[in-house]
Amino acid sequence: MEQYVIKGGNPLVGEVEIAGAKNAALAILAAGIMTDDTVTIDNIPDVNDINVLLEAMRGIGANIHRVDRHTVEIKGNNVNDFSIDYDYIKKIRASYYLLGALLGKYKRAEVALPGGCNIGSRPIDQHLKGFRALGAEVEIEHGKIVAEAEKLRGTHMYFDVVSVGATINVMMAATMAEGTTILENVAKEPHVVDVANFLNSMGANIRGAGTDVIKIKGVNRLHGTEYSIIPDQIEAGTFMFAAAATRGDVTVLNVIPKHLEATAAKLVEIGCEVEEFDDAVRVVSKGNLKHTQVKTLPYPGFPTDMQPQMGVVLSLCEGTSTITESIFENRFKYLSELARMGAVNKVEGHSATIEGVKGFQGARVNALDLRAGAALCIAGLAAEGVTIIDDIVYIQRGYERFEEKMRSLGAVIEKVSSERELQKFMFRVS
Ligand code: UD1
Repeated sequence: MEQYVIKGGNPLVGEVEIAGAKNAALAILAAGIMTDDTVTIDNIPDVNDINVLLEAMRGIGANIHRVDRHTVEIKGNNVNDFSIDYDYIKKIRASYYLLGALLGKYKRAEVALPGGCNIGSRPIDQHLKGFRALGAEVEIEHGKIVAEAEKLRGTHMYFDVVSVGATINVMMAATMAEGTTILENVAKEPHVVDVANFLNSMGANIRGAGTDVIKIKGVNRLHGTEYSIIPDQIEAGTFMFAAAATRGDVTVLNVIPKHLEATAAKLVEIGCEVEEFDDAVRVVSKGNLKHTQVKTLPYPGFPTDMQPQMGVVLSLCEGTSTITESIFENRFKYLSELARMGAVNKVEGHSATIEGVKGFQGARVNALDLRAGAALCIAGLAAEGVTIIDDIVYIQRGYERFEEKMRSLGAVIEKVSSERELQKFMFRVS
């Protein structure tokens, strides 16, 4: 089992290149099977979740050619199976984007029903509501969602909760429905816009992505395209918070600063300097950091995927901070791991109270999930002594070359896979 081992205490300093957005890429790759022509997608992050999705797509007959580390060609003309197994869904929930893609193009899809996960129960009722509104029959049979339709018809629907996944899935299916679909109370995340732009580049007619209402005029067919994925705002934010926690000076390159506004605003509030450039953001952290309040909200609010990283930084701020998590019910588990490193916090329902401490001490902790894992690495980088992170497979799901990028900024971090490697690291840093 691989672990990260970190010797904390070095301020992170330098520049780091941000990869393409994982969450945009997952949906865009799935949508790539909606045409028989070749689709070339660039700026794909090389992370485990993407590789699992590509396997699932191969499994239904799509031709997938990896042109290079960040570029994939998809040809969906040989798709001959409309069923996605539980094995894929278990590894990566977002395989459910193949539901919208297959239903849109072939009017039939069977995808294993995703269960809960480490951050909450994660229902998908809004996805199903949308498919039904488009005229599909949707049943749950033997653990699978089975959706089919003779034809999909444009509809006018209102989402009961703002959901990134449901917005994207229903938008994909509606792209090839007859007539016009109006989707209200949709998610406005940058990756929703990216998926809409991608579909439009294939000949879809989608307007309004990035606002509360998306209008889709159905088309009969989609054609090939070449497309480049937007930068990953969460990876960028993770490095920005790592700079804050280690009292460093980090510039994240290849970003869209507009997508990072909520994150940047919180860093300024606690006392960091944040400088924006055309496609870069610099964070400088010196002097004492101050407490604040944070509430996670759908975009353009503060992202839930940055909440654990924020919790780590707030633990190092003077005074009492509060975090309210309004998206996922179970996203404070990392705070108990952080307490093992000397943090002081208390969770009550959807809120956490954090008392600032002078510093963390290295300890052995568990990654728990993707963003919690990244947050605990940040804590390790700021801590005195050595931190060992277990279950780093979660981190590798969503961060490309995580430890290499951290090392390029001066972090002392290694991936180890045996006691011997661990002891070698300990010897080296002692
Ligand atoms: C996506 C992101 C995830 C991020 C989340 C919120 C991907 C692959 N994942 O997840 O990293 O944390 O957005 O920004 O893009 N809900 C329902 N019914 C539904 C769907 C969602 O009640 O049918 C609820 C969820 O339980 C949650 C809220 O809506 O409370 C938002 O979830 P959603 O935006 O759908 O998250 P995902 O798309 O799963």
